[in-house]
Amino acid sequence: MKHPAFFSLPVALLLVLFVGPATLAQQQSPYAYKIEKSLIATRGAVVSAHPLASQAGLSILQLGGNAIDAAIATQLALAVVYPNAGNIGGGGFMVAQLKDGKQLALDYREKAPAQAHRDMYIEADGRANTDKSQAGHLSSGVPGTIAGLFAAHRHAKLPFKTLIAPAIELAEKGFIITAAEARGLNNLQNDLKKYNTQTPVFVKDSEWKAGDTLVQTDLANTLKRIRDNGQAGFYEGKTAELIVAEMQRGGGLITKADLVAYTAKYRDPHVFQYKEYTLLGMPMPSSGGVLLHQMLKMIEDRPIAAMGFQSPGSVQLMTEVMRRAYADRAAHMGDADFYKVPVQQITNAAYLQERMKSYSNEKPTPSNELQPGTAVGTESEETTHLSVIDQEGNAVAVTTTLNNSYGSRTVVGGAGFLLNDEMDDFSIKPGVPNMFGAVGGEANAIQPGKRMLSSMAPTLVLKKGKPYIVVGTPGGTTIPTQIFQTLVNILEFGMSPQDAVYKPKFHHQWLPDELVVEKGFSETTKAALQKMGYLFGKERGGIGRTELIMVRPDGSFEAVADRRGDDSAAGY
Ligand code: GLY
Repeated sequence: MKHPAFFSLPVALLLVLFVGPATLAQQQSPYAYKIEKSLIATRGAVVSAHPLASQAGLSILQLGGNAIDAAIATQLALAVVYPNAGNIGGGGFMVAQLKDGKQLALDYREKAPAQAHRDMYIEADGRANTDKSQAGHLSSGVPGTIAGLFAAHRHAKLPFKTLIAPAIELAEKGFIITAAEARGLNNLQNDLKKYNTQTPVFVKDSEWKAGDTLVQTDLANTLKRIRDNGQAGFYEGKTAELIVAEMQRGGGLITKADLVAYTAKYRDPHVFQYKEYTLLGMPMPSSGGVLLHQMLKMIEDRPIAAMGFQSPGSVQLMTEVMRRAYADRAAHMGDADFYKVPVQQITNAAYLQERMKSYSNEKPTPSNELQPGTAVGTESEETTHLSVIDQEGNAVAVTTTLNNSYGSRTVVGGAGFLLNDEMDDFSIKPGVPNMFGAVGGEANAIQPGKRMLSSMAPTLVLKKGKPYIVVGTPGGTTIPTQIFQTLVNILEFGMSPQDAVYKPKFHHQWLPDELVVEKGFSETTKAALQKMGYLFGKERGGIGRTELIMVRPDGSFEAVADRRGDDSAAGY
């Protein structure tokens, strides 16, 4: 590949700097860009997993687009610059409040193909084959992202072709990759060779290095077909043919009929009150909104602020609340179009009080007194979140995913994009944990056309009916517990948005019965909890990558990008 001389300089990435608060919009070059970890903006802000994606969103706001326009452009750019999780071959959810007060929950989660069936991963000996549900052609659900972005576009102001232009340019002309991206691609090489029928652009004979330029011509052409033909540019015509051909070469199930039949759905956001705040979360098929509702309500009447941040008392209370909510997740939650999820019942006040009757502030409630369990997986938890706000009063939270990092590791030959391995988010066999260690049963069993249960939790907090906090994170089953902690950090412990995001997190999900903490978590609190009988899992280097925007009392926006990755804020 030939690049202009200065692009190939190995030092180019030295220009990727961590800088402090900024107030001015910067135009980022794809060949020398900066990471902005926090900023204050007055007219609009975008936070995402990659500086160039945030920049794409910002440029759309500056062109006169609203937060929905910017969210669409940011997600499309992420599909190019952040192939770990940014995608057009996966799915996601959008939660938004528009300037007129209209509240949206848009579901573009992947669906099981028509030929899928509940025992499709069960071998002749009765074993559930998670290799097949977690990578390769058979792990992919029917992608929803492009349908979702076109469904969102009805609330946008600019033509779709304007919103997709930055992504096309990034794919066609390339951008330099960061050290984290180089590591990700290097770790992927064996899987790429194993799970692809045609060699994708991500395969390289020598090691990827920070500062290398990644050009994705096939992806650029796919994006152009979407620009020129709309949704049909993905679900019909050449792109659909390439997807189906890939499935046929690799033994996958997605057919032309599956692609044409895919629709994104507007649902009612899951809305609840926490003290003086109104929260908008994602309803089924995501467990995110309901879990957050349950956890916050189970602490609402307890003096958690007085207990203090990550004191033994507050962590123990929050852990017990997590345990109870996740037990309900396994038993009751799934795609409500296919299974009657008792949302009202498991979120009503009397029920939640009853759940807390077994809580003791002196000892753990053993999970095996509720349900049996199994061990947590060790796979990464790649999904990605973006938060956007504008001066008109629109606020948008989008979480999108391929499931695992780089999804199924299968790139559609000739089309240049990775497919998801979202089928693993179904309960492939009752009691068998998915890659996040989550178990499930009937509610989340595989059925043709059904959406797999998610943990994604794009969330808005409203104060007096107006957007106050826009937040979300990747992290598989840790997503709702992280949002829970970030919000408790702000609303109860009075932390700054940056502290709320950056402080080490912890996680409990009922099964396995272990508390997982992130590096930097208080050793004193850990020792106190161990003394009470809590078992700790392996410490994690990082949990999630939260992107948060908070509206300040003067109406300006404080945008915070997580310290845990290349995440970056943009605003003006
Ligand atoms: N694939 C992760 C989730 O949807 O929860």
